[in-house]
Formats: sequence, C-alpha cells, structure tokens
Amino acid sequence: MSADRIVVTSGDITRLAVDAIVNAANERLLGGGGVDGAIHRAAGPELLAACRAFPEVAPGVRCPTGDARITPGYRLPARFVIHTVGPVWYGGAQGEPAALASAYRSSLNLAAAHGLRSVAFPAISTGIYGFPLPMAARIAVTTVAKSLAQHATLERVELVCFDNDALSCFASALAALRDEDAD
Ligand code: APR
Repeated sequence: MSADRIVVTSGDITRLAVDAIVNAANERLLGGGGVDGAIHRAAGPELLAACRAFPEVAPGVRCPTGDARITPGYRLPARFVIHTVGPVWYGGAQGEPAALASAYRSSLNLAAAHGLRSVAFPAISTGIYGFPLPMAARIAVTTVAKSLAQHATLERVELVCFDNDALSCFASALAALRDEDAD
C-alpha cells in the first residue's frame, strides 16, 4: 500500500536531511515569508541566485501555480529543494483543489525524474495562501499516495506540520486514507 510510504511528522522542514524538501513558493520564485523565507534563510544566498536563474515563462512568472522547479539545497541538510507553487484560496470555485493536487504531483514527478527517494513537504497553501487545512490535508495525502503508486523509486514522503492544527488535520487525513486502503 503506498500509504505505508507516507509519514506525517511535525517540526521545522529546514532541518531535515532528506533527498529533497519542498518549498511553498510563489510564482516569482524570489523568496518570501513563511516556509519560503525559512528555507532561503537556511540555504543561504546561493538558493536565491539559483531561483533567479530560471527563465520567466510569463511576465514575473518563473514557476506557474501547480508546477515545480528543482535546485540544490546548498547549506541545507537536504540535498535538493523542490520549489512548487500552491494556489491562493479564493473560496474553492477557482480550481484551487486541482491546482493544489498538481503542486504535490508535479513535485513528486520531478523528484522521481531525479532519482530521489525521500521527499518532505510542508502544508502547501495553508498559510499565507489561506487554503483550509482539512481539505488541503485530504488533497495532499490522496495525491501523494497516487504518485507513490506510480513511482516505485520514491521510498518515503514526509508531510511536515509546523503547528498542532496542521498535525491533527494531516494525521486524520492519513488515517482515513489507510482505512480506505484497508477496505
Ligand atoms: N517548516 C515546516 N513548515 C513550515 C515552516 C517550517 N520552517 N514555516 C512555515 N511552515 C508552514 C506553515 O505553518 C504552513 O502550514 O508551511 C505551511 C505553508 O505556509 P506558507 O509558508 O505561508 O506558504 P503558503 O500558504 O503556500 O503561501 C505561499 O507565502 O511565503 C510566501 O513566498 C511565499 O508567496 C508565497 C506564499
């Protein structure tokens, strides 16, 4: 069962010595607040230089919402950073659920393409972008489980929660997925 390769943990994603940590970035890919700011601070200035080197695919857009880019991790314990852009929450009728699923899927497709085995995600879009945690958690675990079923080389995906609300939502979502798998 691919759900067995998913773990929900709590802590600071910048401290994880995994193959890649995922950054909840914005389309400009030039840093920001939240986990984006924490990752850039921990990685050092080379990370911003590497992000700036990505060509704009539209004015001010280096990574479209739902897509992903990969850079080295520089001073981070993680080998790589996968930068993805989740949707801003506008109430749920602007394609936000599909865009959030795409952010998780694109990140894992990129990780598999680079032969990575361990990947850690923050709770994408649930901070500054305002995506409701319970729905975001369900989308995260179901999308990650589907991607793991397609990529046997991905051994472990860690969903890292930074506060107790996120931890309870993600733990419940993973438990519900395991119940479904068991049926
Ligand atoms: N480790 C793990 N998770 C963290 C950390 C950390 N060090 N810091 C914050 N988080 C969590 C937040 O608590 C939240 O659950 O990451 C999740 C995502 O929140 P944000 O970082 O605000 O990201 P998001 O909601 O996707 O908004 C993206 O914010 O920082 C800017 O440049 C970024 O414009 C983009 C927007």
